[in-house]
Amino acid sequence: MGVSRGGFSSRLGFIMAAAGSAVGLGNIWGFPTQTASNGGAAFVLVYLVLAFCLAYPAFMAELLIGRYGQANAVTSMQKIARNTREKRFGFVVGFGGIICAALILSFYGIIAGWMISYAVEPLALLAGFNESANWLTNHSLTRNILFTTCFMALTIFIIRRGVEQGIEKWSKRLMPMLIGLLILLIIYVFTLDGSRAGFEAYLNPDISRVLEPDLLISALGQAFFSLSLGTSVMIIYGSYIAKKENLVTLGAQVTLIDVSIAFLAGLLIIPAMYVAQAQGVAIFAEDGSLISGSNLVFTVLPALFSGMGYVGLFVAFGFFVLMSIAALTSSISMLEGPVSFAVERHDIPREKATTMIGLGILLLSTIIVVNLDWMLDFVAILSTQYGQPIIAMLCCIFAGWVWQRSGILAEIKQGNAEVEHSVFWKIWPWYTKFVCPTAIALVFWHSLAS
Ligand code: PFF
Repeated sequence: MGVSRGGFSSRLGFIMAAAGSAVGLGNIWGFPTQTASNGGAAFVLVYLVLAFCLAYPAFMAELLIGRYGQANAVTSMQKIARNTREKRFGFVVGFGGIICAALILSFYGIIAGWMISYAVEPLALLAGFNESANWLTNHSLTRNILFTTCFMALTIFIIRRGVEQGIEKWSKRLMPMLIGLLILLIIYVFTLDGSRAGFEAYLNPDISRVLEPDLLISALGQAFFSLSLGTSVMIIYGSYIAKKENLVTLGAQVTLIDVSIAFLAGLLIIPAMYVAQAQGVAIFAEDGSLISGSNLVFTVLPALFSGMGYVGLFVAFGFFVLMSIAALTSSISMLEGPVSFAVERHDIPREKATTMIGLGILLLSTIIVVNLDWMLDFVAILSTQYGQPIIAMLCCIFAGWVWQRSGILAEIKQGNAEVEHSVFWKIWPWYTKFVCPTAIALVFWHSLAS
């Protein structure tokens, strides 16, 4: 791998970084709330199947394009293209992904800022600063701008340091902390009254719901968001992997970690909701549907923590630190896409490019914060419900129709000499060519119609 552009120094470094990108607010907040509002275990089951059967093949396409190109998303795609038309197509897909990542970061950073302010609140209470604690949990403009800026500053700080010293080093530090905190919190919630009902709701599938179209759409959308597809992120992370590594296994390992952490997060959040209910906190809205979305994390769970008294302060701190870490390992991957493009295509030094792009995205976040009532949802829907599926689909089309089979095989064979005779190679090319684009298009079309 080119020394000047850097790369992951080890297999573990890549796994932690890619799993860090994949595991984020989508796993710890999105997945459990989607599960809770979509029939519990039935959703989990469908999610598992779709993550491995549809998201994993699309994920492999992005990783392979990046590893082949050993460059930012646009250059990697254009290296595969053979004529001007294909090069233009490559540009649209690669650059589209970069824009999509920047848009996601602009709203993700705001929510991550809330997580940090909720993590500081118990510390303020412990120190006796009750008024400040109140301010920290009130959604004021100043608080939002201040904490979004803090979060973006952390993201910029890590990305300025590059792939090995920034992304890899911090992912290796933060991911074990995240997993440790998650397990500790699950064990604690397990000891509380009411958690058993939550475990049952989470683990007993209502098989009759498995084929409901809305459930399928939500599960596929969740799987794509979770694996950070359609954002150029996995192309750029793929480009930092050494040629000697076995991509098929690495991709499967990252998918497995992502899915497992989402599953673990469900084991924490859903029982915690039932514990809250046992303590008299409303977890169902007036129409009988489950309270989810922002109310779950910022209302139901804080009510649960405050019912625990003194211990609750530590649990709340642990929970919101967990959320903040998850968000940070994802946000760094979103910033890396545009930064690598600016560094490699426009010869801007990494530190300068990171600061400039980071500040540009922060400016957009500030505009969103000022118009929070409509703009947050607008940018989130635009980037995750439109941008991601469209770009992910185009990426599969690119890998399936533009990239020649022999070229793909030669790339995968590096690090996996036997792949030609494996089940993966028998299925994946067809999948990427026909099944993935069709399935994504169907889901996209259906979600537009509904
Ligand atoms: N995968 C992240 C999550 O589940 O929260 C979200 C994400 C990260 C989306 C990186 C897009 C991206 F480029």
